[in-house]
Amino acid sequence: MKKTIRFLMTALLFFLTCSGAAAAAEEEEITTVTPGILSMTTEATFPPYEYYDGNEIVGIDVEVAQAIAEKLGLTLQITDIAFDSIIPGVQTFKYDMGMAGMTVSEERLEEVNFSESYAKGIQVVIVREDSPIQSIDDLFAEGANNIIGTQSGTTGFLYATWDIEDAGLGTVRGFGKTTDALEALKNGQVDCILLDNEPAKALAAGSSGVKILDAPYVEEEYAICIAKENTALLDAVNEALRQLKADGTLDAIMDKYINDEADTQTQQETTKSWIENVKEDFVTCFLVKDRWTYITTGLLNTLKIAFAATFLGIAIGSLVAVIRSTHDRNIKTMRRGIARVLLIIGNWFCKLYLTVIRGTPVMIQILIMFFVVFSTARDGVPVAMLTFGINSGAYVAEIIRAGIMAVDNGQMEAGRSLGFNFVQTMWYIIIPQAFKSVLPSLANEFIVLLKETSVACYVAVNDLTKGGEIIRSTTYIQAMPLLIVAGIYLLMVIFFSEMVSRLERRLRSNER
Ligand code: ARG
Repeated sequence: MKKTIRFLMTALLFFLTCSGAAAAAEEEEITTVTPGILSMTTEATFPPYEYYDGNEIVGIDVEVAQAIAEKLGLTLQITDIAFDSIIPGVQTFKYDMGMAGMTVSEERLEEVNFSESYAKGIQVVIVREDSPIQSIDDLFAEGANNIIGTQSGTTGFLYATWDIEDAGLGTVRGFGKTTDALEALKNGQVDCILLDNEPAKALAAGSSGVKILDAPYVEEEYAICIAKENTALLDAVNEALRQLKADGTLDAIMDKYINDEADTQTQQETTKSWIENVKEDFVTCFLVKDRWTYITTGLLNTLKIAFAATFLGIAIGSLVAVIRSTHDRNIKTMRRGIARVLLIIGNWFCKLYLTVIRGTPVMIQILIMFFVVFSTARDGVPVAMLTFGINSGAYVAEIIRAGIMAVDNGQMEAGRSLGFNFVQTMWYIIIPQAFKSVLPSLANEFIVLLKETSVACYVAVNDLTKGGEIIRSTTYIQAMPLLIVAGIYLLMVIFFSEMVSRLERRLRSNER
């Protein structure tokens, strides 16, 4: 009953917004984030709506978006991000529209506009074949206590929370990808999954031991989300959709994907030796459809980010360290005056920076940078470089400060008596000595960054971790891509650590 009411309300709201939008000004000039380009964002573990075929994202949404772009005379550009980042991404004008088999809901309509609907979705429940859950009613039986797997931020997640968790009948677990939820179901880590019908069929067909319960959980409408302010684009998209419906294009796209059982990689039960299995997994993960290129592009981006961040970190860190150590050493003996005031203020800012950066998780920092500070940035790589640089600077500052403090105070006096001013003494005498003693620690900072930057994969950066994640979610193979990615990080760390110890040895022998 509750579900029916919810559906009717959504449908009504949906109808109201659509008709309102249609009445809006027809002939406005459409604006997109980048002129000439229609940028669409999605989360591509949702076959047949969006999924990877080799290096390419394909599916119903992609083809519909392509057809719309053609009608509007724009070039389509697709970005794959976390499902729960799609609406924020559209709201903050990073992308023109979100298309991800996305359900029109009351809550979402408060944040973004939706186009006319182009497809229907049905939420269904997937269970293991031998599961005690055999009907939807079992989920609501008295004393039920199931773990429900869903994709984070989806309507499935919300329904499960409202209907089941809030009623004390179980717990909801949100996964980033639909494929991870499925894996957890197969492993027995969750008892069932609440997911949209077509993706459920595609995913279930690709894996043995799971089935979809007959009765649907609830019905929904899929539409394209667009920023509230961009009514001109909304009107244009609606008009294009109407044409695609009228000329049969939309139906043709739907038929192509929904009747073909598109790309359901069937995993047969086999009795191969483990060696053969490993070989086969390796081929599927890396050789088929050139999937290894995810790893190489990812690796390159990871290295780029780590190098850039290390240099930026050293620059920021040195500045902060000089200000802080100058303050600590000299403030008591300094004469009153403008220099003293500046130093006090500078030191205060440095302390604030250190406290804030070291007191918050880098994951949150990168989300803030990408979605708040640089909300118009399209490419995550420069944002990641900057964020990790600023983050690393806080740790590097303390390393360098220790180095400066370790340089004998007499060195400063010696410099000054040679006629150098303060900055010259710092630059020519103190800093080089300080640097030498902390060089190994700085190199270690690079090694730390190499691993830490893996959180950048949350902001549409295709780093090494993300490369492995794409492979994992397209092949449904877990161990192989995870272990290989871990192995590559490990090899890099071993390699660079060896370089650091060589450097250390070299520095030590120079001292003699
Ligand atoms: N229809 C559901 C929703 O809007 C799930 C969509 C998930 N889409 C995806 N591409 N992962 O919340």
